[in-house]
Amino acid sequence: MPTKAKTAKTKKPTLGTQTTTAPEPAPNASPNGSRPAALVTGASRGIGRATCLRLARDGYDIVALARNEAELEALAIEIASTGRKCRVIALDLAHPPAIAAALYGVNVDVLVNNAGTAVTKPFMELAPDEWHRMIDVNVNALYHVTRALLPGMIERGHGHICTIGSIAGRSPFVGGSCYAATKAFVTSWSESLMLEVRDRGVKVSVVMPGGVATEFGGRQPSQADAWKLAAEDVADAVSYVVGTPDTVLVHRLEVRTLNSPPAKR
Ligand SMILES: NC(=O)c1ccc[n+]([C@@H]2O[C@H](COP(=O)([O-])OP(=O)(O)OC[C@H]3O[C@@H](n4cnc5c(N)ncnc54)[C@H](OP(=O)(O)O)[C@@H]3O)[C@@H](O)[C@H]2O)c1
Repeated sequence: MPTKAKTAKTKKPTLGTQTTTAPEPAPNASPNGSRPAALVTGASRGIGRATCLRLARDGYDIVALARNEAELEALAIEIASTGRKCRVIALDLAHPPAIAAALYGVNVDVLVNNAGTAVTKPFMELAPDEWHRMIDVNVNALYHVTRALLPGMIERGHGHICTIGSIAGRSPFVGGSCYAATKAFVTSWSESLMLEVRDRGVKVSVVMPGGVATEFGGRQPSQADAWKLAAEDVADAVSYVVGTPDTVLVHRLEVRTLNSPPAKR
């Protein structure tokens, strides 16, 4: 599987160098004084895209990773127009060697493990490739992406790994035998990792949204999704979690809409 790592074509930004415009500094500034950077997986649309834009507004340069290169390039142009830099990495997270190659030498202050995929149907109807893809993207990619970036954070004694879990991780549902289980994994993995690295200056958090009106699971958001959270609501939660003072760790954050689903009213 080919791997491409590019920067936005408009300004050809390079992470770590200053631009002429100077937005407010990020709350989670790099200890060496350089501008902080955040890598977001699943950045091409939905929660990941909204998180990239939100963190760029917060003062981060962005490394945006997903498969759809055209969508990433459009995002990079949007971020570049705000004065922040955005490097694009077009990559399938189901291919571990490509992840290692693409992330070699990448150093960021914040990693948002957001990419995810879902096929929700009864267990007996799940095809092997559907099962494996959910495990590869929602679970195995956490190992490969985090393993690539965590050593640098530990070395610098500074960093934040924020993973997007789900309320489904603690509320199993019919059709969620694989998806809900992958999100339960996210919660458990995040807490174990947090306990391992918090004394080394690295924060680990999990943000668990309820329903979000995105294209998740191949759906097109419609009027029926009006009760749900917007992707930007989750991005705001990520911004809050990674923006806390150095001495404070918000490890787990559940975000719901105030409305209950129509079927439950
Ligand atoms: N929507 C909800 O109701 C909801 C609720 C709770 C939690 N979540 C979680 O939120 C996260 C984001 O979901 P979303 O709602 O924003 O869904 P989405 O709009 O479908 O976005 C999913 C993102 O993941 C990327 N992705 C999927 N497979 C990938 C792969 N093999 N390699 C690289 N990137 C891949 C997609 O990019 P490409 O297709 O370009 O690769 C896309 O950017 C997921 O982890 C999901 O479990 C969603």
